Amino acid sequence: MDKKPFYITTPIYYVNDIPHIGHSYTTIAADTLARYKRMRDCDVFFLTGTDEHGQKIEKAAKLNNEKPIELADRMSGRFRDLWQVLDISNDGFIRTTEGGHVKQVQNAFKKMYENGDIYLGEYEGWYCIPCESFWTSMQLSSDNCPDCGRSVEKIKEKNYFFRLSKYQDLLLEYFDKHSDFIKPESRRNELHRRIVGGIDDISVSRAAVEWGVHVPMDDEHTIYVWVDALFNYMTALELDDSSALKRYWPANVHIIGKEILWFHGVIWPAMLMSLGEEIPYQIFAHGWWTLEGKKISKSLGNAIDPVEITETYGVDPYRYFLLREVPFGLDGNFSYEAMVNRINCDLGNDLGNLLHRTLTMIEKYRDGIVPEYDGLPSAEGKELAERSKTLNNEVENAMSNLQFSKALESIWDYIGLVNKYVEISKPWALAKETSTKDNLNEVLYNLAESIRVISLFILPFMPNVAEEMCNQLGLSSDEESVRHNFAWGGMRPGTKVCKGSPIFPKFEYPVVN
Ligand code: ME8
Ligand code: MG
Repeated sequence: MDKKPFYITTPIYYVNDIPHIGHSYTTIAADTLARYKRMRDCDVFFLTGTDEHGQKIEKAAKLNNEKPIELADRMSGRFRDLWQVLDISNDGFIRTTEGGHVKQVQNAFKKMYENGDIYLGEYEGWYCIPCESFWTSMQLSSDNCPDCGRSVEKIKEKNYFFRLSKYQDLLLEYFDKHSDFIKPESRRNELHRRIVGGIDDISVSRAAVEWGVHVPMDDEHTIYVWVDALFNYMTALELDDSSALKRYWPANVHIIGKEILWFHGVIWPAMLMSLGEEIPYQIFAHGWWTLEGKKISKSLGNAIDPVEITETYGVDPYRYFLLREVPFGLDGNFSYEAMVNRINCDLGNDLGNLLHRTLTMIEKYRDGIVPEYDGLPSAEGKELAERSKTLNNEVENAMSNLQFSKALESIWDYIGLVNKYVEISKPWALAKETSTKDNLNEVLYNLAESIRVISLFILPFMPNVAEEMCNQLGLSSDEESVRHNFAWGGMRPGTKVCKGSPIFPKFEYPVVN
């Protein structure tokens, strides 16, 4: 059977900044979706990468006394290393300095020039280097960038322009026909209003910036870094393999932060329309993290390295915390206290203890063998089986809408039900009587089976924990058909469990040394 292609992307990150919580958030979310879709039999292509051109990188390299490409090589490597640490399963990694990308960006630019959508004009206005964005005097209410609040520089130069204004009606029509194009809804409405308010042509080249892709018909100019960057989503596929573009384009979802929605929701589809290419199905703009209440930034010096966090707290708990703590789309605050709470309660108490006590009982009462049971299932046992089916639907629903926290809430409701089942069925009491032997067999079987099902649902979020749970249940990795069976009853009686130490250590907050 031919699998359904599913193409997911993250933004490509600027190489002047060190990777921090914010970058890891988007990439972990995309990874979780990628793993989920693979589990649901999609042929996934998951792309991330680095954005390496532009004035900001040029400037950062100069400050560092190195060539821009040296900075790019070093920093791009740091992003790659981080994705290894965080178990990111990306299929591609694009760098905008790759020759193949550069050539394709030039081709696209030339095509838009030839069809009349790019023309030479005079630009007079303001430029924000950190955001790499142009501003008109009208848009500025002070001397600072309306987006990031930092100072802007005045520029007056001959520039190439893209006829964005021409696409106003087409964009509005597209928005109206495709209600899921921009998510969440509130951001879609905001963007829609901005388009209705009117859009101007935009400058798409810089004469003063050397570090970039050169305009094919005019070597004096480099292509505006945002135009260069946006095309990565297509060029990466062609770089990977010439038939990949045909297979995976248009992208199913571009996952981005809310601050770059204008570029993705307006400029990108307009350029694609100009080229006659298909528009991605969805752009999901998530919210921003603060760190202990403050904006995360290199200049504030609070941009802690996710590697450091995971060295102490573990990769999977960190992934879990980010996706559980804040509904995807909203802003959130990262605090160690909140993370420690989640690790101790949700992971340690609810999940870790369930696994540990279940395996302890299977060892103690049944020599470590998952028992078989005769007779009719009890009402409580049936409820566990039934709820695993509704859980399947709930998770599928939540995940198709990128509601990661909602999916986790449903999974944890189920874990709560299983914990309650232990309390109600009291296996330790059943073990005392020979007459309740079969009842005990049923309870132990149901517990092992519930844990197997839980491990499957949490796999996209916490791949290592899921693996460890399966190992402790005695399901080796060559038993894929058992591990990956969403239907109730997959656990084979007779399986020998293999209890390990508790999977989540407890943490104290505040940290005591
Ligand atoms: O904008 N909270 O790259 P960038 C949540 N190169 N997410 C955050 C975050 C935070 N505090 N900080 C960063 C660029 N992010 C361009 C993109 S795409 C064609 C070009 C995440 O290095 C979030 O995904 O500034 C945001 O959109 C992205 O990092 C910006 O990364
Ligand atoms: Mg940024």
